[in-house]
Amino acid sequence: MSIKYKINTMISVDQFIELLNESTLGERRPIDDRECMEGMVSNSNFVVTAWDDEKMIGIARSITDFSYACYLSDLAVHKHYQKKGVGKKLQIITQEQLGPKCKLMLIAAPAANAYYEHIGFTNNPRCWVLDRDQDISS
Ligand SMILES: CC(C)(COP(=O)(O)OP(=O)(O)OC[C@H]1O[C@@H](n2cnc3c(N)ncnc32)[C@H](O)[C@@H]1OP(=O)(O)O)[C@@H](O)C(=O)NCCC(=O)NCCS
Repeated sequence: MSIKYKINTMISVDQFIELLNESTLGERRPIDDRECMEGMVSNSNFVVTAWDDEKMIGIARSITDFSYACYLSDLAVHKHYQKKGVGKKLQIITQEQLGPKCKLMLIAAPAANAYYEHIGFTNNPRCWVLDRDQDISS
């Protein structure tokens, strides 16, 4: 299997949604909200993709300053290509482009929790999330 990896190549919203569905991550992303999906694609500033010929079969989509923090928002591999090292390679390429002090951070899907531990991430119990509908103004 000859998989090619690309950094910041243009992808369409439809390609992104298709891959999320083919990986199962679509179940946990707002794939029916076109505007949100378009924002995810056009406003990420660091995207590594994996290709089998013309077909995108993997993605690591991040938002980062390249110096201190890199938030890996979506990691997805087409189900026919899973457990062949594609997900790990996408993260290796991502990490290679980051500065020496830059950490990779993410929120794992429940089914992928063991995966990140397996490949060397450490769990941080001090990670906090503020949901959009949470009002902290008072
Ligand atoms: C999670 C996912 C990105 C992993 O990518 P992948 O290409 O299938 O995994 P890799 O081939 O890079 O796996 C690397 C290692 O992790 C192991 N691994 C893979 N999936 C695992 C899992 N769910 N739990 C534990 N270990 C796992 C592999 O066996 C391999 O082990 P080895 O190096 O000892 O042989 C991919 O399975 C996927 O897209 N899943 C559905 C979407 C999802 O959950 N994404 C994560 C959102 S946070």
